[in-house]
Amino acid sequence: IKEDKISVGGVETDNHLILAAGVLGTTGASLRRMLDLGAGAAVTKSIGPFPKEGHKGPCVYVMEGAVMNAMGLPNPSSDFVNELECLGGKPVIASIFGANPDEFSEVASWFEGKVRGFELNVSCPHAQGYGAQIGSDPDMVRECTRAVAKTGVPTWVKLTPNVTDITEIGIAAEEGGASAVVAINTVKALRISTGLRRPLLGNGTGGLSGPAVFPIALRCVWELYEALSIPVVGCGGVSSADNVIEMIMAGASAVEIGSAVLDGVDIFEKISSELYSDEGEKIGDILGCAH
Ligand code: DOR
Repeated sequence: IKEDKISVGGVETDNHLILAAGVLGTTGASLRRMLDLGAGAAVTKSIGPFPKEGHKGPCVYVMEGAVMNAMGLPNPSSDFVNELECLGGKPVIASIFGANPDEFSEVASWFEGKVRGFELNVSCPHAQGYGAQIGSDPDMVRECTRAVAKTGVPTWVKLTPNVTDITEIGIAAEEGGASAVVAINTVKALRISTGLRRPLLGNGTGGLSGPAVFPIALRCVWELYEALSIPVVGCGGVSSADNVIEMIMAGASAVEIGSAVLDGVDIFEKISSELYSDEGEKIGDILGCAH
């Protein structure tokens, strides 16, 4: 079955597979390309209250089964809104960040009426003042979520796995009015160049993504599904139709795909053709039994 539209936490998407924040979401043209290539919705690169250049390089290190990044939330701030002009009506979700509820509220106001929903980034593992500090503090998560959710625009909150109990943070997001949570952002990580005797990434630590983090993401989705009444969107290392089915079995209502896009932009078509094939009818069966 190929469902024409699905609704996840108030956001109508064209299918269950969504382009994750950060990956190819930096321009209107790249967002549009991923939607044309079969993504059911696309999340923008995270946009914050001021233009930001990001960390000094190297910012990305690719290894077997994983990618480590410390981009440092580079973004053009309010100028990004112009990128959305060529995307009118398409299922785009704005990823936004700030250091406090007022900043979240201001950034959200630039996008109102231009996107289907917000995804609050409270979970970057290597962004001083904007990431883990907020995402590991239930009160901050609740208040930042409240500041955006009051717009009435569907508000998803992307959670960090770098906490002792992800359900405590998920519950705070739900209390603040989140319409869904997204699990997970990257896992805090470090690699060292033995030759250079310094960290491989310019920032020192970074965030790990790719197949290596899939089991962590799956565990987080399952814990959140058990603890919350709002939908959970799975994200983290998904690279096959089978991974998508595992996510749905763990409780995900939709799945975001990030790092796998770097191996080929046809990933959405590849996974959809298996997931929605007539003989498979996999997604219908799974959704029928899991939810
Ligand atoms: O791993 C990440 N890198 N997660 C984020 O939320 C932001 C990104 C960056 O720009 O550093």
